[in-house]
Amino acid sequence: MAKVRTAFFCKNCGAESAKWLGKCPACGEWNTYVEEVIEKSSATGVPKMAGDQPRQKPQIKNLTEVTVLTSFRIRTGDGELDRVLGGGIVPGSLILVGGQPGIGKSTLLLQFALKQKRKILYVSGEESEEQIKLRADRVGIQNDQCFVYTETNVATILHEAARLQPEVMIIDSIQTITTPYIDSTSGSISQVRECAGELQRFAKESNIPVIIIGHITKEGGIAGPKLLEHIVDVVLQFEGDQHYAYRIIRTLKNRFGSTDEIGIYAMDMQGLREVSNPSELLISPNADNLSGSTIAASLEGLRPLLIETQALVSPSVYGTAQRSATGFDLRRLSMLLAVLEKRCGLPFGQHDVFLNIAGGIRVSDPAIDLAVVSALISSIENIPVARNICFAGEVGLSGEIRPASRVEQRIAEAARLGFTTIYIPEFKSEMVKLNQSKTEIKTLSKIDDLLREIFA
Ligand code: TYD
Ligand code: MG
Repeated sequence: MAKVRTAFFCKNCGAESAKWLGKCPACGEWNTYVEEVIEKSSATGVPKMAGDQPRQKPQIKNLTEVTVLTSFRIRTGDGELDRVLGGGIVPGSLILVGGQPGIGKSTLLLQFALKQKRKILYVSGEESEEQIKLRADRVGIQNDQCFVYTETNVATILHEAARLQPEVMIIDSIQTITTPYIDSTSGSISQVRECAGELQRFAKESNIPVIIIGHITKEGGIAGPKLLEHIVDVVLQFEGDQHYAYRIIRTLKNRFGSTDEIGIYAMDMQGLREVSNPSELLISPNADNLSGSTIAASLEGLRPLLIETQALVSPSVYGTAQRSATGFDLRRLSMLLAVLEKRCGLPFGQHDVFLNIAGGIRVSDPAIDLAVVSALISSIENIPVARNICFAGEVGLSGEIRPASRVEQRIAEAARLGFTTIYIPEFKSEMVKLNQSKTEIKTLSKIDDLLREIFA
């Protein structure tokens, strides 16, 4: 009888250890080790994949003899997805799409499968064929080249996939499939790691690209193993708020392209719709004469995006003032408030502050600071900011307006959307002379300039 063998795995990085450890020596995290049963098949040396022919051994080659196949890419038929993938799917690649439950990962990939004229295999360990069919009906695309398979055993899946020879295989999700050679439950670290390894081998050997869906934990990491990120070639993250219609797909890693790209979708009754003009949707049209609302000329990845920032500042009733931010870093908000208090003498200490980035978008671009600061001042002073003005610039600790990246692109987007004025950092003052658009460019060097220009 085979002995039950267990091992300890780090939940953060997937490192394995024979005994429990308080601190992971690989990633330095504390208290992340969990015990898992890994009873492997007693017959060692048997090929892992059941019913498989022995694998071809790779040969040592001179690099100059290696032919490159990556110039060919499978177009996904979805502009946003192609953009984040760097132009399409590279044959033989392994792509991970991560995201929180209910965000629309299955919808995105089923839609992709249905839009293709190619043979696609959609493997689901989560939903029944009927459920998938219902979703396909909802999306409203008919396609006779899309195959579905509800199976969770990775060996069976790969065996069937090798028979069907699809052009792309989709696995929904990595946490539901299992390999029989490991005894722990599906979704555990050793299972995920082993299955991902099998899928990677399959992709490389058959040249069939595999897209895996992975769930994300509450903390935002791809559930369980970070090591999944090392195995795959491309990591895409699908994010957004379930309660808002907008979804952003971001490239976190791409062995075949840039990681600066994002794609934007809107979820509606017929599934996900590509949004090619996001700025127009993110700005509410009739917020004239309302204080606390300003527009930032921001960049998401490489794309200029005009977004609305809203602030509400009101005297705090209780002893300690409340701070809350949606779509913006709370610590950064505290820093901006401290700068305003210290440099401009505005009494934010006695006020509750709520900040919201419209549309459920999360912004990481530091150049949104200027718009946030303007919204805060606008709200505390109760002076509305005109809707045809937008801002781009980072605010430093001494109240200076620091340079923003790709100012030209921000100005071009503001001009395209008919903004009359854009405020940018002094540093880029040569832009004023070069300006050929109808949008007027004004420069600021300090927050005081902002107060004088707009709130005087
Ligand atoms: P789903 O793709 O199942 O999310 P995930 O695979 O990431 O868990 O879809 C999530 C949500 O999308 C679901 O709550 C319903 C909604 N939805 C729509 O609003 N419109 C649609 O056309 C579809 C198919 C789904
Ligand atoms: Mg799903």
